[in-house]
Amino acid sequence: MGDTNWWQRGVIYQIYPRSFMDSDGDGVGDLPGILARLDHLTWLGVDAIWLSPVHPSPMDDFGYDISDYTGVDPVFGTMDDLDRLVAAAHARGLRVLLDWVPNHTSDQHPWFVASRSSPADPKRDWYVWRDPRPDGGPPSNWLRYVGDSAWRWDDRTGQYYYRVFLDSQPDLNWRNPAVQEAMLDTLRFWLARGIDGFRIDALVVLVEDDQLRDNPPNPSYRQGRDFPYMRELSVWNVDRPETRELADRMRKVVDEFGDDRVLLAELGLPLEQIVAYYGSGSDGIQVPFNFELLTTAWDARVIGGYVDRYLAALPAGAWPNWVLGNHDTPRVATRLGPAQARVAAMLLLTLPGTPTLYQGEELGLEDVPVPPGQALDPIAHLVPGRGRDPERTPMPWDGGPGAGFTTGRPWLPVGDGNRARNLAAQRDDPASMLTLHRRLLQLRRQTPALVAGAYVPVGVDGDVLAYLRADPGGDRWLVALNLGSSPARLAVPGPSPAGRVALSTHPGRDGQPVAGSLELDGDEGVVVQLD
Ligand code: NOJ
Ligand code: MG
Repeated sequence: MGDTNWWQRGVIYQIYPRSFMDSDGDGVGDLPGILARLDHLTWLGVDAIWLSPVHPSPMDDFGYDISDYTGVDPVFGTMDDLDRLVAAAHARGLRVLLDWVPNHTSDQHPWFVASRSSPADPKRDWYVWRDPRPDGGPPSNWLRYVGDSAWRWDDRTGQYYYRVFLDSQPDLNWRNPAVQEAMLDTLRFWLARGIDGFRIDALVVLVEDDQLRDNPPNPSYRQGRDFPYMRELSVWNVDRPETRELADRMRKVVDEFGDDRVLLAELGLPLEQIVAYYGSGSDGIQVPFNFELLTTAWDARVIGGYVDRYLAALPAGAWPNWVLGNHDTPRVATRLGPAQARVAAMLLLTLPGTPTLYQGEELGLEDVPVPPGQALDPIAHLVPGRGRDPERTPMPWDGGPGAGFTTGRPWLPVGDGNRARNLAAQRDDPASMLTLHRRLLQLRRQTPALVAGAYVPVGVDGDVLAYLRADPGGDRWLVALNLGSSPARLAVPGPSPAGRVALSTHPGRDGQPVAGSLELDGDEGVVVQLD
């Protein structure tokens, strides 16, 4: 592990600031709130926090619509609050990553206000403006995320502007060198202030084909199951070669500040395309997010097969990573059920590569249904059934009013189930999800083989996913995860097929000796230290 970087050894914890901790009673989480809860994160044992956007924003997309890249929105606090948070985090050995949203700004950003004001405005070319086709229709057939045309007509100036997300999130024109410089400078601004890196939002849609070529239809589109934009194959407006080049430039900017700053990127692409963002392995994005666990069939063979393909596809020098949840996806305990959520935590924290935990996963939080009439996420209205409020509800810290999250009225409901899963209730319970997370994180920290050791799959029939993590020093660990609900057994591999259970998802098994074969309960995962 001597030559690994902190972000390779470490675990990244995603904070959705609106829902983490509210310090001033307005029902919305804020920066002083995060500061007040830093002890939770160090006690838990994570290494870095990534904050979803905290910059000034009209909040149409709850901060992913930015109107000032170098400020702090008053709902979250002040610049001083952010500086204080960063200093306090650093003092505890926690790194701080911000969310950088380069693809689009808010329509209230002064750049867009100017751009929209007139075709002759100097900022006009900072966004993607085009004339209609001769028939008056949009310049190309490209679809935006929610499934209708990605081109939005602007009556005032008689042209279309391009936007992949909301009308109020116009895409920047990254072909314009002035845009590139201005945006890369926002990275420098934060790096100079001590920020340790960024999660790059929606990187794949940064640049579009300059000839506006039409996308072909997607022959395997499944209506109702797939997101509506998937009706077409987004070959001309997603993952363009220019975007990959710009990703390398972003990396160079980060490297201006030393070799311990990091870039994470949201891509949401097939495996072969994700790995391209590593560049030649060490000169691209260090953590191009691997979202497979967010959507995979929960099947031992499927997941084992993916791990093999993923690791094999990495260029030399590239470091793997895994994501189990985020603010855009139903929570893992809802997707898989509470029992398998424990197994999933063990998987996340023992696979080779940097894990990202989403706030509340450590409590086993589930989605909180928000009735359509009360939905706040605009996506809930644009694509019924796909709203993201349920996975964004507040953290429950204790059983008191406001769940210890707020003294006011929380902006989204805490939910009765999650209120019962609060931190205080789980903290001293040896059987809790929280204790499992804390112990997994401790074990990982103490066990170089789990961080940087080789990954060797162990072939098992049925529902068990098993692998070895082995250190050059000879330290060998077996991870065996029963992804099914019936008991299972596997032969312990190796020359001396014996060891001791270091940690099980099922309390009461730790320390148990293992010889020859290993019995697993339904829904049980174990980490075994081999002799
Ligand atoms: C991805 C973010 O995670 C999501 O929350 C947001 O709505 C879109 N990008 C647009 O910024
Ligand atoms: Mg774009």
